[in-house]
Amino acid sequence: MFKDDLLKEKRILVTGGGTGLGKEMATHFAKHGAEIFICGRRENVLEETANELKEKYDTKIHYSTLDIRDSKDVDSYIQSIFDTGPLDGLVNNAAGNFISPTKDLSPKGFDAIANIVFHGTFYVTHSVGKRWIEAKHKGSIISILATWVWTGSPYVVPSAMSKTGLHAMTQSLAAEWGHYGIKVNAIAPGPFPTKGAWDRLNPNGADEESLGSTPLGRVGEMNELQNLATFLMADGCDFLTGQTIAIDGAQYLTGGGTFSGLSKLTDDDWANIRNMIRSTNNKDKADRKI
Ligand code: HXC
Repeated sequence: MFKDDLLKEKRILVTGGGTGLGKEMATHFAKHGAEIFICGRRENVLEETANELKEKYDTKIHYSTLDIRDSKDVDSYIQSIFDTGPLDGLVNNAAGNFISPTKDLSPKGFDAIANIVFHGTFYVTHSVGKRWIEAKHKGSIISILATWVWTGSPYVVPSAMSKTGLHAMTQSLAAEWGHYGIKVNAIAPGPFPTKGAWDRLNPNGADEESLGSTPLGRVGEMNELQNLATFLMADGCDFLTGQTIAIDGAQYLTGGGTFSGLSKLTDDDWANIRNMIRSTNNKDKADRKI
């Protein structure tokens, strides 16, 4: 769809770029010539992805462990990148989520999501944006949101609240930072199956009823999301800013809140689901160095 050197000379940071959608976008950017920075909490998956990209593409790939919930660590990491030259693009992809009846959430459960998605994404955006403004360097920001920013969604209320806040950030910063040459957009993907999301959001595999139902009769294909992210990251359409673009096969226009179908589950179903999500989380935690 694009020329191979579309993103040549661009330096792009993808948070949570070791796995899932972040890895897919980082891969597509590298394929189109960009220098890539990925960060996340698990060194093993970051290293694996960085090695894979280095082998495939003739461009520089860097990785670093980072927990975006820590504003000081975020700022030192961003400074360490800018010490070697400015970034040109930022993808706010790192996130956390699990399905749960809202009545069963503890304050810590709410904070676990809000601290990553709402606070962490702001810390990274602020840290990169202020350096762009100071250096008078133009840049492009893409945040990965969800169609819940328009519909809300039951059973993922901390995520829906946090991502809606980031939708407001996208609109607000596009207006505030436009005159610095900073373009701020967001993508709201519908169902694009990835292991991290599916193990936590669809642990009992009920695809059709919850996440898989779109008017197109299929889930998203990764190259569709990659193409949209690459288009937003490239030069040539800078007048497009402040937008959250849904790429969901018109699912949200048809069905409303993504998880509405879960109302049929019993308390026992939820207990099983919680155990499945916990075992996914525990496996991930065993891999984390920080
Ligand atoms: C209820 C839960 C729970 C569950 C955790 N908690 N899982 N409550 N149901 N299934 C509660 C715990 O009981 C605890 O509160 C609190 O949350 C913190 O739990 P920790 O495990 O200590 O948190 P932490 O290590 O910070 O992990 C954060 C996490 C984890 C979000 C829970 O899943 C994570 O790091 N995930 C990152 C990757 C991820 O989630 N990927 C999917 C993203 S999909 P108490 O009070 O008991 O101590 C996405 C959008 C997809 O973002 C869109 C699709 C359409």
